Amino acid sequence: MAHAVYVFDAYGTLFDVHAAVRRHADAIGADAQRISEIWRQKQLEYSWVRALMGRYVDFWSLTEQGLDFALTKVPDADPDLRERLLDAYRHLDCYPEVPKVLTALREKGARLAILSNGSPAMLESAASSAGIADLFEEIVSVDEIRTYKTAEAVYELVTTRFKVFPEAVSFQSSNRWDIAGATAFGFRSVWLNRTAQPDEYKDLPPAAVLPSLDGLLTLT
Ligand code: LAC
Repeated sequence: MAHAVYVFDAYGTLFDVHAAVRRHADAIGADAQRISEIWRQKQLEYSWVRALMGRYVDFWSLTEQGLDFALTKVPDADPDLRERLLDAYRHLDCYPEVPKVLTALREKGARLAILSNGSPAMLESAASSAGIADLFEEIVSVDEIRTYKTAEAVYELVTTRFKVFPEAVSFQSSNRWDIAGATAFGFRSVWLNRTAQPDEYKDLPPAAVLPSLDGLLTLT
């Protein structure tokens, strides 16, 4: 293998963050997609703002707060959906190609890990529900250092844990801002541009861009 360690972002990369709302789309109605987008955007904004302030609150709390904002902001949203949506978020679907790509990497001798803003309990729950927990050697959460991506210390959790230099790590994320952080740290970064977004952070480019994890094994 060209890289000894393959590290994956969790939300949006392995797990489909919009699957929770999609599961209850009929009950939500026409505003479903808008709620899902506001929910995700606020969850991320809270992580960046709190990292800058040095006032950590765990990612599950930020997920709840983001949903509360979305359900308040969208006038016709039914607040009774809150618990059902949070429960769905604990058991998100993984993207369809994920299990087979991870299994193939393992068969080639790669060491696999998740590196995520997610709190340990939510990551364990999502990975178990998706049936992929056993494929990872490590599920690493920012919670142990109480800050968020794109702090350098987050990416350093991987090199410390696996005792490797950054260039031994292939880092996969669908979040372009996370790819910027990983590139800055020195990982080989692979941007999964699942939704055909325009490029950004052009001074911190990915080493490769793929539409999904299919094709990861063909990269050298
Ligand atoms: C994560 C978020 C950023 O899993 O998607 O770290």
